[in-house]
Amino acid sequence: MNTRFVFSSLLALCGLFPAFAESTVKVEHFSVNNSLVRVEGDGKYLLLPVSEASSEASVNVLVDGNLERTIYVRLATSAVDYMVPFDLTPYKGHKLALNVVTNNGLHSESDRCWSDLQVVDEFDTTNREKFRPLFHHTPKYGWMNDPNGMFYKDGEWHLYYQWNPYGSKWQNMTWGHASSPDLINWTEHDAVLTPNGLGAIFSGSCAIDYNNDAGFGKDAVIALYTSAAASQVQSLAHSLDNGYSFKVYPGNPVLSLSSEARDPNFFFNPVTKKWDLILAHPLDHEMLIFSSTDLKQWKYSSSFGRGEGAQNGVWECPDLFKLKVDGSDQEKWVMICSINPGGPFGGSATQYFVGDYDGKTFTPDRDADGNVPTKWMDFGKDHYATVSWSDAPSGRRSIIAWMSNWQYADVVPTLQYRSANSLPRDLSLFTAPDGQVYLKTIPSPEVETIVGRPSLKRKNVKISSRPRAFQLPTANSGICAIDLTIDPKDAANVELTLSNAGGESVVVSYDVAAKLVSFDRNKSGVVEFNKDFSVVSKAPTLSDSNVLSLRFFIDRSSIEIFGNDGKFVLTNLVFPQSPYTTLSISSDRKCKVSSISVSPITPTTPN
Ligand code: FRU
Repeated sequence: MNTRFVFSSLLALCGLFPAFAESTVKVEHFSVNNSLVRVEGDGKYLLLPVSEASSEASVNVLVDGNLERTIYVRLATSAVDYMVPFDLTPYKGHKLALNVVTNNGLHSESDRCWSDLQVVDEFDTTNREKFRPLFHHTPKYGWMNDPNGMFYKDGEWHLYYQWNPYGSKWQNMTWGHASSPDLINWTEHDAVLTPNGLGAIFSGSCAIDYNNDAGFGKDAVIALYTSAAASQVQSLAHSLDNGYSFKVYPGNPVLSLSSEARDPNFFFNPVTKKWDLILAHPLDHEMLIFSSTDLKQWKYSSSFGRGEGAQNGVWECPDLFKLKVDGSDQEKWVMICSINPGGPFGGSATQYFVGDYDGKTFTPDRDADGNVPTKWMDFGKDHYATVSWSDAPSGRRSIIAWMSNWQYADVVPTLQYRSANSLPRDLSLFTAPDGQVYLKTIPSPEVETIVGRPSLKRKNVKISSRPRAFQLPTANSGICAIDLTIDPKDAANVELTLSNAGGESVVVSYDVAAKLVSFDRNKSGVVEFNKDFSVVSKAPTLSDSNVLSLRFFIDRSSIEIFGNDGKFVLTNLVFPQSPYTTLSISSDRKCKVSSISVSPITPTTPN
């Protein structure tokens, strides 16, 4: 046995590390793959050294000698990529020890994960990353995937998300929590649901129980989520403080099937006066519908989707809601259904179905040939797990998506955190020239509040084969919005190139005859981290007219393009070494940019 002490307080006395707390860390090595870390004192966080190349160690949290939970951490052997905080405050007055099993026996006593352990009173979350978005939601640190359980109540938009607090790769699924008065400025709060005896906390939804149907109290916030371990079962939790803390239901699970099922999404149906729940049945590529009167006992109603739409991947993260079709009183139901892989440009993507729903069965619209058309919410490569806020004000249907793709999400060139959410967006429906009803997606109106006065505004600019260059803002890493309308006249192809001095560029092309807008990020910046990142994604313009309007939102590592007032959207990550400073426009034959404006955007995330 070998023992090592870290006298944080002693170092603090010497003035070497003034931030260190009065604590000691003692490490005992039992065998090559098993060590015990004892922490004593008043410090707030034990910092664990992480190396992403390491395999996961099981860290068994022992409180007064009893196992409380196990977390999985990629403890560093040599180089340390970053530190993650283990919160010591819940264990005040108790004996805390971490029984660490490094499964593959690679860890030795000289590893950095032992020598670099530290106890501190503050965990520094100051941004250290040049690619961290300046106006999109990101977790302060750690990995994030799907948005979860969003609801609006008493003037606050709540956003939970799949979070790993102990590293920037997927693991330890927890519901992280942020709230916002305006969908734009987000405040991070303590996590609300952490892995428990039934498993990790996978995706799910929340709704307000206005009539106290579940018996936890009027206006209680109810969460339904997947408990994922050996099986995937559906669990309930409730909150009586507007979503800042949740109590897990002791009778969990409330719904279990003999096959994999996840991501429950539920809502109150005023027509049937019942709660309806949509559940992904991933391996069967379908969604299951259940109903309940008390949110605890769920009765199967129907299944939707086998053989319909895109099928080449697991179906996940459903949502179901009603919307008005623009310009009419007609109402249609929309079933959202994320698929991975099987997206149009590889990996994950969000598809949807438009149809009717009678409280039991969803019936999709068919095209003239009797087929159910495949529809995509976004034609970029980084838009997944899209779901909507429940109880949004003024009948709005506001959504947000995880802005990444399972093909490469855990290797994108960030470390302190991984993944951002898309801009919040509002949905409506429109009828396209093919007679089908599609989703129209616009940035939520709140986004306008961060778009500044245009730094450039032009009208009727003649475009030809000689590129016409427009300067982009340089403040705040060049984050900006660009609005333009192109009248192609006789041109068959119009090309818009965003570029920086280092020769990195994104090329957006308009193929007028094919009515397609493509987004080429092959030379956009750092692309080598994964072979599937370099791609050209393409969107149909879904319009009768050749005149094309485009609205770009450019953040440090993403570009969202809303086309033809939201008839199509392209959301793509890009990692330019320096911001794009120029937009050049050219066309094969003469055409016209009827209007263009470039506006700086005000950052909402501390730089
Ligand atoms: C979708 C998903 C969900 C699951 C969650 C786990 O991205 O696979 O189906 O609940 O991620 O983190």
